[in-house]
Amino acid sequence: MSLSGKKILVVGGSSGMGLATALAAAAQGAELVLSSRSQARLDAAAARFGTPVSTIAADAADDDAVRALFARTGPLDHVVVTAAVVNRKPLAEITLEEAHQAFETKFWTQFNVARRAAPVIRPGGSITLFSGISSQRGFASLVVASAINGAVDALCRSLALALAPVRVNAVSPGFVDTKSHRDTAREKVLEAVAAGLPLGRVGQPEDLARAVLFLMESPYSTGSVVVVDGGHLAG
Ligand SMILES: NC(=O)c1ccc[n+]([C@@H]2O[C@H](COP(=O)([O-])OP(=O)(O)OC[C@H]3O[C@@H](n4cnc5c(N)ncnc54)[C@H](OP(=O)(O)O)[C@@H]3O)[C@@H](O)[C@H]2O)c1
Repeated sequence: MSLSGKKILVVGGSSGMGLATALAAAAQGAELVLSSRSQARLDAAAARFGTPVSTIAADAADDDAVRALFARTGPLDHVVVTAAVVNRKPLAEITLEEAHQAFETKFWTQFNVARRAAPVIRPGGSITLFSGISSQRGFASLVVASAINGAVDALCRSLALALAPVRVNAVSPGFVDTKSHRDTAREKVLEAVAAGLPLGRVGQPEDLARAVLFLMESPYSTGSVVVVDGGHLAG
């Protein structure tokens, strides 16, 4: 199976793993639509493609905007959702409102994009969500994120039943060096994590893009959460 000629929407496609997925799919001949909130970021992302890509600015947390997004895309083969805003505040500092907001920006966005996407997905098509390995292993510094990621894993399995025959899968990354997250504190975390991993490095966005392409092209995969973490959960 090839992605050549397939139409793919990446919600969160202006940076990080969403952009890497879009670039990898375009290299296989897929037709890409990138969406995120900022048209400027989308324009910068689109400039990295060798062929024309469509861009649609939309806030995935806004139901009207999501409905309008799918009205504009029309029929699609695959939808990938990487959209999220991560709040890295420690447990003692994060407010309840901020914790709710974190769910809003990662969990409810995926819930809503997936259910609005399903009616426009062509036979054999798929939706790929993004969780994270804190769903399967405790991290004292990622209490809210781990709850969100656990919810996304559960959402994936139930959506695979509720939206069938549309296939619904999730990719669960370990620590990934998406340039958008880089600051001194983050660099120290990534260095420390890399030193403890069997593969001796953190992930690159392209490592995760491979997993998304596999799930899009794998006609018998649905309800699967695929971990790509450099062996983090093994140790
Ligand atoms: N990086 C890691 O180490 C890591 C580890 C585990 C899990 N993850 C998960 O993997 C996924 C992708 O992470 P990433 O590092 O690739 O993220 P990223 O580089 O920060 O990219 C996030 C993308 O989502 C868009 N976005 C954010 N809020 C949005 C909204 N409300 N509506 C539409 N678009 C929105 C952003 O663009 P705009 O600003 O233009 O909206 C951007 O394109 C996330 O779910 C993240 O939690 C990441």
